[in-house]
Amino acid sequence: MIRFEIIGTGGYVPKKILTNADLEKMVDTSDEWITTRTGIKERHIAREDEATSDMVIKAAEEAINEAKIDREEIDIVIVATVTPDTAFPSASCWVQKGLGIKNIPVFDISAACTGFLYGLIIGGSLIQAGTARTVLVAGSETLTKITDWKDRGTCVLFGDGAGAAILRKTERDAGLLGYTWHADGSLGHLLSLPAGGSRLPASETTVKEGLHFLKMQGNEVFKYAVRYMGESAVNAIKKAGITSEDIKLFIPHQANIRIIQSTCERAGIPMEKTYITIDRYGNMSAATIPVSFRDALREKLIKRDDIVLFSAFGAGFTWASLVLKY
Ligand code: UT7
Repeated sequence: MIRFEIIGTGGYVPKKILTNADLEKMVDTSDEWITTRTGIKERHIAREDEATSDMVIKAAEEAINEAKIDREEIDIVIVATVTPDTAFPSASCWVQKGLGIKNIPVFDISAACTGFLYGLIIGGSLIQAGTARTVLVAGSETLTKITDWKDRGTCVLFGDGAGAAILRKTERDAGLLGYTWHADGSLGHLLSLPAGGSRLPASETTVKEGLHFLKMQGNEVFKYAVRYMGESAVNAIKKAGITSEDIKLFIPHQANIRIIQSTCERAGIPMEKTYITIDRYGNMSAATIPVSFRDALREKLIKRDDIVLFSAFGAGFTWASLVLKY
């Protein structure tokens, strides 16, 4: 068990909403195709001048207020993102500046849609080890800034947002009862951002060829997501020493409603116990789980001591499932 308590959560999505009807005017698609193939109805889009860290700061401020702590009490900031404001400084450095907290270590995690779950494991472990008492873990993405708006296979899927949680040392019987986390870099080519790094630095050619946009072989990714989210959810439940009946709420990563349904079937969790946000947010990568968690808490679907299951799969590939006693 990794013992810690979540004392505050926050979430933020940009104001601008892009509906399926809007997308019908942009590419050869339909509300019917997007709804039946993915479950998405609309998504939020960051402003041109809005970056990943701006959204984290808003989510973090909500979490700090809820936790009723002074921001100076935060010992470490961890931001999970694959769309940082700049390659460097890290998004977490921009967040630290925005929050006005000095003299603490901060760092980013690059684990795509699984990033927030990696962050909970790492943040919780740092508390357990005595390295920190209070850790801010956030997941934030502006995937619409690396979206090819001419590619109907990807542009209908993503939305922007940020979520945050404040983890604190506790004597309560709370934290991660069990978890599994994984990666398989040999499959990375199936979902990637080809240009802009040291392999293929940005040039006139990369821009002309659209290699600065996210590329995905959707149906291949789909097969692995279904298999690995299901498998890891089952293993995390086993490691936690509970059964699926003990789970109050399942909050999965939301890339496709069909992936979620299949994960539920494999893990023996009814859809009625599964929290769905894909219709209103689309796939927000690392932000999906923390924003959904915040929303579920605001709807009072989870109370202290309830058991929550999280499961995610994303680029890398990376995947993880966590059983949290809230
Ligand atoms: O965030 C974590 C990682 N990401 C994921 O987990 C995403 C996993 N993948 C998926 O969710 C699905 O594969 C997609 C939603 C991306 C695509 O659904 P699919 O059922 O796998 O469709 P497909 O790519 O096999 O395409 C089926 C058909 C094709 O037409 P033909 O060749 O059968 O005539 C596509 O061209 O659907 C067509 N299509 C579309 N049609 C209307 C693809 N995108 C669209 C679209 N509107 N937006």
